[in-house]
Amino acid sequence: MHAGDGSPHEPLYGPAFAADPAAVYRRLRTAGPTAPVELAPGVRATLVTGYDAALHVLRTTETFSKDSRRWRDLADGTVPPDSPVVPMMAYRPNALLTDGREHRRLREAITDSLGRVEPSALRGHVEQTADTLIDRFAAHGSADLLAAYAQPLPLLVFNRLFGCPPDIGDRLVEGMSGIFDGVDAEKANELLTRTVTELVGLKRGRPAQDVTSWLIAHPAGLSDEELVHTLVLLMGAGTEPQQNLIANSLRLLLSDERFAGSLSGGSLPVDDSLDEVLWTDPPMANYAVHFPVHDVRYEGALLREGEPLVISFAAANTDPALTAERRAGNRAHLAWSAGPHACPAQGPARLIASVAVEKLLDRLPDVELAVAAGELSWRPGPFHRALAALPVRFPPAASVLGGTPERQPDGQPRQTAARPRPVPPWAHQPAAAGPGRARRLWSGLRSWWRGGE
Ligand code: HEM
Repeated sequence: MHAGDGSPHEPLYGPAFAADPAAVYRRLRTAGPTAPVELAPGVRATLVTGYDAALHVLRTTETFSKDSRRWRDLADGTVPPDSPVVPMMAYRPNALLTDGREHRRLREAITDSLGRVEPSALRGHVEQTADTLIDRFAAHGSADLLAAYAQPLPLLVFNRLFGCPPDIGDRLVEGMSGIFDGVDAEKANELLTRTVTELVGLKRGRPAQDVTSWLIAHPAGLSDEELVHTLVLLMGAGTEPQQNLIANSLRLLLSDERFAGSLSGGSLPVDDSLDEVLWTDPPMANYAVHFPVHDVRYEGALLREGEPLVISFAAANTDPALTAERRAGNRAHLAWSAGPHACPAQGPARLIASVAVEKLLDRLPDVELAVAAGELSWRPGPFHRALAALPVRFPPAASVLGGTPERQPDGQPRQTAARPRPVPPWAHQPAAAGPGRARRLWSGLRSWWRGGE
C-alpha cells in the first residue's frame, strides 16, 4: 500500500511485524521522524518514530488533540466500525480521550484515588495473589508463565483494589475474557459495562476503603456514566500492559546472559530488568493516538487535520539519535508516555511488576525457559509488545498453602493427607496461543474466583 505521495504504508499488523518490529522501525526511520503506516488493513496513520518528535507531539496540546471524534476516516466510513483497531481508538468519555479542562477533571479523580492506595497494602495483595497462583503450578515442574501467572495476576489484584465482591469479580473476569478472546467482543463488552455499573451502584450505597468508593466520593463529582468509563479504562489500561511488563521482564531475566549471570550470583536485578524492558520492549509499543486540529508541517512532513498520529514508544526509545549518555542509568524512556496524558499509575504499576517478578524468582529460583528464547512468539497487533506464551520448567517446589509438593522431584505424585485445591486448567497450559487458550484460562480463573472447581 502506498501513501498519496507514493511512499509505502508499512503494515504494523500480521506475523512479520510481531516477529521483528525493530526491523520495521529501522525501515521507517529512513523516511524521517514520522512515516506512513497501516494499523490494520485499510487503517492509515502516521507513526512518530523520533524521540524528539514524540515529545513534541505529546507536549503540544494546542495542535495535537486526543479526542478521536476528530478521526476523519472513521467519521466518513473509510474505516469500518468493526475494524479490529477501532475499540482501542474510538471515542469514549474518559481521561485518555479528552483534552483540556475535561481531561484534567477526569484525570485528577484518577490520580487522587490511586494516590490513596498504600504501597505496603498493594505489595501485600500482590504477594498474596502471586503465592496463590504459584501454588497452582509449583508442584508440576513446568508452566506457561503467561497464562498461569502474568495474565491473571493484575486482574486479581485489581479486583481487590477496586473492592469487587466475588460474584462481581467473577463477571468482570468473564467480560474481560470475552474481550481478550475477541469472540463476541460486543457481548463481552456489554457484560463488562453492566457489571461495572452494578459495582458503582453497590459502592454508592455502601462505600468502603477501595478505589471505586474513592472515585465516587472525589470532589470532581463524576457522573455514573463517567465512573463506568473511568473504571473500564483503569481495568483495561491496568491489565494488558501490566501483564506484558511482568512477562517481558521474566523473559529477559531468563534469557539474557547479563541478567542470568547476576541471578546465579544471588543478586536479583529485577529493577534493572524492568528498566531494560521499558526502554527496549515497552508493553505499550505504539499508542498515544493524537489528531492534528489543523494541517501542520513537521520536519518536512505534512500532518493532516483529523489523520491519526500514533506515537511509537518502542521506536522513540531506540532512536539512534539518543546518545548513550541520554539512555544509561536514567528513566527518560517513553514507556509511560509523557505530557499531560502520561500514565498516572507508574508507581503502582512498577511495584506490581517488581513484586510479581521477585516473588516468582524467589519461589522458583531454578526456573528456566523450556524453549530457546528465539522460539518464543509474540502476539500480533500494532499497539502492544506481548508474548503469546512463556513456557518454563523448574524443579517441583512446595506450595505455600499445602506446604508439600504435589509431586516428588522425580515427577511421581506424592501421597499427602491434605492436598491443596485441585489445579485448575489454566494453571498448567501447554505453550499454545490463540482464543481457545485464552478462553480456557479465563473459564478456569472464573471457577477459581468462585472458590471451587
Ligand atoms: C506496566 C504497566 C503500564 C504501562 C506500560 C502503562 C503505559 C501507559 C501509557 C503509555 C499511557 C499513555 C497512553 C496514551 O496517551 O494513549 C498510559 C495511560 C494511562 N494509564 Fe497506564 N500503563 C501501565 C499500567 C497502568 C495501570 C496499572 C493503570 C491503572 C491502575 C494505568 C492507568 C492508566 C490511565 C488511566 C491512563 C490514561 C491517562 C490519561 O489519559 O490522562 N496504567 N499508560
